[in-house]
Amino acid sequence: MADVTAEPVRIAIVGAGNIARSHARAITSQAEAAAPAPATIVAAMDVDQSQLGTFCAEFHIPGGYGDLGTLLSQARPDLVHICTPPSTHHPIALECLRGGASVLTEKPPTISLREFDELAAAEQRPPWFATVFQHRFGAGQRRLKQLAASGALGRPLIAVCHTTWFRDQAYFDVPWRGRWDTEGGGPTMGHGIHQMDMLLDVLGDWTEVSAIARTQARTMPTEDLSLAHVTFANGAVASVVNSVLSPREESYLRFDFERATVEVTHLYGYSDDDWRLTPAPGCEADVTAAWKHAADGGGGDAHSSHAAQFARVLAALRDGRRPPVSPSEARRTMALIAGIYASAFTRRPVAPADLGPPAAFYTAMNGGHEAW
Ligand SMILES: NC(=O)c1ccc[n+]([C@@H]2O[C@H](COP(=O)([O-])OP(=O)(O)OC[C@H]3O[C@@H](n4cnc5c(N)ncnc54)[C@H](O)[C@@H]3O)[C@@H](O)[C@H]2O)c1
Repeated sequence: MADVTAEPVRIAIVGAGNIARSHARAITSQAEAAAPAPATIVAAMDVDQSQLGTFCAEFHIPGGYGDLGTLLSQARPDLVHICTPPSTHHPIALECLRGGASVLTEKPPTISLREFDELAAAEQRPPWFATVFQHRFGAGQRRLKQLAASGALGRPLIAVCHTTWFRDQAYFDVPWRGRWDTEGGGPTMGHGIHQMDMLLDVLGDWTEVSAIARTQARTMPTEDLSLAHVTFANGAVASVVNSVLSPREESYLRFDFERATVEVTHLYGYSDDDWRLTPAPGCEADVTAAWKHAADGGGGDAHSSHAAQFARVLAALRDGRRPPVSPSEARRTMALIAGIYASAFTRRPVAPADLGPPAAFYTAMNGGHEAW
């Protein structure tokens, strides 16, 4: 791997579809905003030649490849952004890590805990294995995390985590969506994962989950909704809803601490205006001042966005530090999703210890079950 402290980080993007464009735009805008540029896109790869050609032309990418091995040996990227459908993340990431390139993979990082653990074990630090969870990186979430950790808000008591989005049947006609073997689940895995990751980013380790899931209105093998109750090691409890059946779409998180309620209401990304703080009676002055003066976690973007996360990933790589989001953090979110599916299929409460290697839900998110 090149000395990334001196030169721009050499990035390759694998998968040249929808989300790859957000990646390319975010990298390009950072390269244009700073001198010397923190990163440069040296190559892209896609199994679809026409997608690849359009993408390389659109973002002036010099190397277009139809094969990952050739990309790795010829373009020698420091970092590979994986923007392909979920079931392809594991083989692509493994090949990159074994080839000496760090990996930043789109969510969900893998479609099972077993695959996830294989990637975590393949890290040689560097190369690193990181997951895209961009909503951790807006100022509001960083401020909340800091105040929660410092105790300024008191004990966390109860939380609400709603991903109530709308996806019509045509959305699931894309062959990889809504299938266990290609997406690893429905809205719990594909959509609510963002909000549940924010929930766990603030509340930490979970200890038990009870859930139901079903296919209520769409025709697909996975769920189109799930509901869960989650208990945390710190004693807090949370109610989680994941749906793609909700015409008035919203992402909503609410944290009730002893000393304040903190809420964020947004859809696919928040800014500072989307956060609301309600101090408990008698705590108005303290809590309002603490929220106002809390550092934003190192400066940067008020918005949650790929660019906000990438800035931190690039800074970490250039400093020789682990880039976010780390495997241990991403795994906790993946384990909660596995726990929701395990509880929904077995109709029992599930703890993290129930999801270890011999468990069926370790190997596949549906634990080998086919229908609800
Ligand atoms: N972070 C977010 O907010 C966010 C939003 C949307 C999608 N995503 C994630 O991004 C990923 C891609 O989603 P998308 O909507 O861009 O999909 P897409 O179908 O638009 O694009 C995927 C691309 O990958 C290519 N591809 C498929 N298999 C490949 C392989 N083995 N090697 C190389 N290229 C391959 C396809 O030809 C296609 O061009 C998914 O994991 C999805 O969950 C994340």
